[in-house]
Amino acid sequence: MAVAVYISEEQISNKISELAYKINEDFAGQELVVICVLNGAFMFCADLVRGISIPVTMEFIKVSSYGAGTSSTGQIKFDLEFKGDLKGKNVLIIEDIVDTGLTLTKIMENIKSKGVGKVKLASLLFKPSRNIHPVKIDYLGFEIPDKFVIGYGLDFAGKFRELPYIGVYEE
Ligand code: IMP
Ligand code: MG
Repeated sequence: MAVAVYISEEQISNKISELAYKINEDFAGQELVVICVLNGAFMFCADLVRGISIPVTMEFIKVSSYGAGTSSTGQIKFDLEFKGDLKGKNVLIIEDIVDTGLTLTKIMENIKSKGVGKVKLASLLFKPSRNIHPVKIDYLGFEIPDKFVIGYGLDFAGKFRELPYIGVYEE
């Protein structure tokens, strides 16, 4: 197997500055509950919130859809669910990648059922070719082709999350 750099640290960091700038504009004068979708979004979330200058509270949810392989099981499971009060609050969900869209569709349903105010979605990556559950990504990092990517939070069988860049994994 081999890993090739696909999106560099510098490209990621420039993009995150742009996204943070937009978020700060869109929510100027307001407050935000940031919901980080574990595990994959931990690194993107940590970098993105450091660019946010409005008051933020942080929450973490954990879902799993993938087993040890590179294709979805078609089901998602809430391993850690947010139980706090979101009534009327502005929520920003932060995810690593929207692939089929199943995960985000389920998360959105769950969050919207809590009577929130505005809900926006930030995703570092989007694979349009595989999308079957349409989700609106308000703050998108990069559109990518149908390649399996790793690094910067994303894993293959639990590994490679620590890489500071997005890489392509070739078996
Ligand atoms: P979806 O439900 O099909 O949109 O899948 C979303 C989840 O699958 C993401 O949160 C990732 O955890 C995982 N995933 C999808 N594509 C990739 C990839 O290329 N590399 C690593 N994980 C991926
Ligand atoms: Mg994920």
